[in-house]
Parts: sequence; C-alpha cells; structure tokens
Amino acid sequence: MDIEVKGHSGCDISVVREQNVLYVYKSTYDPKYVARLLKQASKQQEASTVEYQHIRVPKIFDVSSDEHRATIKMQYIYSKNFVEYFEQSGFEQIDYLIHAIEYFVEKELAQSPVQRVPQEVFIEKFEDVRHKTLCKPEMADDARVKELLERSAELFGSLGDWEIPVGVCHGDLTFSNILFNGNNYFLIDFLDSYVETPLQDIVKIRQDTCYCWSPLMYQHPYDSVRLQIIFDKIDSEVDTYFATRYEWYRRFYKPMQLMNLLRILPYATERRIIEYLKTIISQLLNEI
Ligand SMILES: Nc1ncnc2c1ncn2[C@@H]1O[C@H](COP(=O)(O)OP(=O)(O)OP(=O)(O)O)[C@@H](O)[C@H]1O
Ligand SMILES: [Mg+2]
Repeated sequence: MDIEVKGHSGCDISVVREQNVLYVYKSTYDPKYVARLLKQASKQQEASTVEYQHIRVPKIFDVSSDEHRATIKMQYIYSKNFVEYFEQSGFEQIDYLIHAIEYFVEKELAQSPVQRVPQEVFIEKFEDVRHKTLCKPEMADDARVKELLERSAELFGSLGDWEIPVGVCHGDLTFSNILFNGNNYFLIDFLDSYVETPLQDIVKIRQDTCYCWSPLMYQHPYDSVRLQIIFDKIDSEVDTYFATRYEWYRRFYKPMQLMNLLRILPYATERRIIEYLKTIISQLLNEI
C-alpha cells in the first residue's frame, strides 16, 4: 500500500503499485454502503464504454464483494484537483472545460428522451428528506428550517408532473469528483439517483459554480477571488447554453436544484454549513 486517502463518504481509498503500475482500490466495510458502491461501479463501467470529447472515466479492472464489504479496483489517474487546476488555468482552458461539460451532458441527453415523471416521485423524495431533516433535534427546533420545508412542500405539490429527460446521469457531478489531467477530465464517484436525469448533472455542476459548494468543503488555502471569477464564467455559460435550448431546463432547473440543496440539509453538521444552506434555499425559493 503506497498512499491512503479518506473520502467524505467513508470509503477507504488506497493507491497501490503492482508490477510497477498504479491502481486505486476503493473499498467500503459498511454493509449499508455495499449496494451503493456496487451501483457506482456498474455506472462507472457503463460510462467508460462511451467516447466523450475530453471527458474520460477511469477503467475498472475488478469488483469484489460480499454482504459486509465491497472493493473496486480501478485505473489510477495522475491528476490535479479542481483548486490546483483552476489556480493555474487560463480562460482558454476554462473554455475547453465548459465545452466538455456541455458535450458530456448532450451525449447523456441523446440517451435520455424527455418523459413525464409523475409529481409523486418528487413529493415522495421531498417527504423523505423532510423526515430525515426533522429527525435531527437541532433542525426540528429551528423555525427557519421548518418554514423553508413548508414552503418547499407547497412548491413540490404545485408543479404537476415533470417533463424532463430520463435515462442516464453521473449522479454526483461536482468538481470534487472530477480529476484534472491537462485538457482531459476524469469523472469518478458515480452515484445512483432517484431519477436518472442529465438535469441532475447540470444541477450538481451548478451547485459548485453558482453556490461555490466544493470550495466550502476544501481544507487548504486557495485563491477565492480567482475561483469566483472562473465559477461565474462557467455558471453563466452553462446556464445560457441549456436555457436557450431546452424548455425542461427553463422550467425544472430551479426546483431540481432546490431538491438537491434540501437533500444536503439532513447531513449537514457544521453550523456555518447549515446557515449557508438555509440562506441559499431561501434565495432559491424566492426565485421560483
Ligand atoms: N481513479 C483515481 N485516480 C486517482 N485518484 C483517485 C481516483 N479515485 C479516487 N481518487 C482520489 O480519492 C479521492 C476521493 O475519491 P472519491 O470521490 O471516489 O471518494 P469519496 O469517498 O466519495 O470521496 P468524497 O466524497 O470525499 O469526494 C479523490 O478526490 C482523489 O483524490
Ligand atoms: Mg467524491
């Protein structure tokens, strides 16, 4: 074992050298997480068979599991994280990245016809999130949280069925799940979603570019002014790209982003994160 990395999800990540080739082993020893990691492996395997411009997916070499544990063995990617990458890239490289993201989502859209998804799917998901949130005493005692949940319940009950593309998505496409290698971007940490829609991937990218989420979780110093300028550029270009082309985006991006932010709430523990979430959820509700 050469290097050990601990991710947020609680999985163990080890970089191992075998016959002079580096591999990543991602493992869970939490029985509750086994099914999720296996689903991640099959999504990643599926995505690695598609050709995307500039976007790549690490190859999976082996998956092993029993009911207590699961391990994925995959290609090691020599790369930078998003902060290291953005701190040294010029606007031309940012343009590459924007086009790669648009192209990636377009490829997903080609496999995801627009369909009617019953509003019950979103109401059920919301009720699950509301329940999980209110199970936490500090949330249940927070009048502002309760007010935001009430307003959200009203909104999800009023939208009717959703007409959105359904088929494939990465599921957790934040910058923390992209490894940057020159002008190639490697996607990791695929996640199954309650609706497999490319809209979820736009929502996750904009969780970073509009709400600066991944930097909030970043543990080291970084140039926040530079990052903000880059995020603003990516955000406005991605938003304009999809807004000028797709009715489903214009109508359902904000409700989908609202659900996304609400879903983080029950897992938030730090005070500053909870306060930030309340602020941006409230802003978003005012915009819908
Ligand atoms: N194939 C890979 N090649 C190189 N590094 C990798 C690879 N897969 C994962 N890593 C490293 O491990 C980190 C965490 O990986 P991943 O996102 O899959 O796990 P996680 O447990 O969900 O972590 P988190 O939720 O904190 O992002 C990555 O940010 C990266 O530094
Ligand atoms: Mg991750």
